[in-house]
Amino acid sequence: MIMAPFIRVILAGFMALTFGKGAAISAEPEKIAASEPPAVTEFMGRTVAQTMHSAGANWLMRHDREQEEAGVLMRQKLDLKPGMVICDMGCGNGYHTFPMAKAVAPDGKVYGVEIQEPYLKMLDEGAKKNGVTNFIPVLGLTYDPKLPEGVMDLILLVDVYHEFDHPAEMLAAMRRALKPDGVLVFVEFRAEDASVPIKPEHKMSKAQLTKELTGNGFKLVKQFDELPWQHMMWFGKNAEH
Ligand SMILES: C[S@@+](CC[C@H](N)C(=O)[O-])C[C@H]1O[C@@H](n2cnc3c(N)ncnc32)[C@H](O)[C@@H]1O
Repeated sequence: MIMAPFIRVILAGFMALTFGKGAAISAEPEKIAASEPPAVTEFMGRTVAQTMHSAGANWLMRHDREQEEAGVLMRQKLDLKPGMVICDMGCGNGYHTFPMAKAVAPDGKVYGVEIQEPYLKMLDEGAKKNGVTNFIPVLGLTYDPKLPEGVMDLILLVDVYHEFDHPAEMLAAMRRALKPDGVLVFVEFRAEDASVPIKPEHKMSKAQLTKELTGNGFKLVKQFDELPWQHMMWFGKNAEH
């Protein structure tokens, strides 16, 4: 769309004010405004957490993260294979994205979805620094990750799901993006464990996660409970998984 610069600026301002995080300038504003579902602050008995701002990106790359989260072990448990098509949902600055890209190379690829635009520049720099060429960055919306349909073997959500302010829409969109035997893998700080030093709204219990996922048509297919602070849960696309 060819527009005078000042019109683009006005339109961008309008989009940002109207849609907040992840607003894109590529679509007709009236159409997005008409189709944007309302955000929630509570979901199935849980308070939705505030989104972690990209200004705190350094925390995601903190030196002791491996000690606290055992990311190498967590990624081994994903059992990634060359050729797989996967997604790191809410990928931040790519802490897990680039090792995952290497695990599915050379023919596989990893989509990294973020709603905060500053992360896209960091991801671009990170891909170059890591020599990764099979990474596809996506600027999503809070209710639409803008993924292609029916292609994902696995969608990973590390410390992300509890921040979704459109959880039902995001679950439905991720379901559409999965292959028939594809899985969602959730890594969340354990709400059951008071010794995990994370704010309550940024933790999730296994019971709550299972309630939300089964309530939205998914089936629990696997669990891993040996990470230092988090639990890992795999959910299949449907009861026949
Ligand atoms: C705590 S950070 C975790 C980042 C990354 N997964 C990691 O482990 O390093 C949570 C991220 O989820 C993103 N996020 C929140 N809602 C989202 C949505 N609807 N779609 C995509 N990303 C989302 C936020 O922008 C934030 O960067």
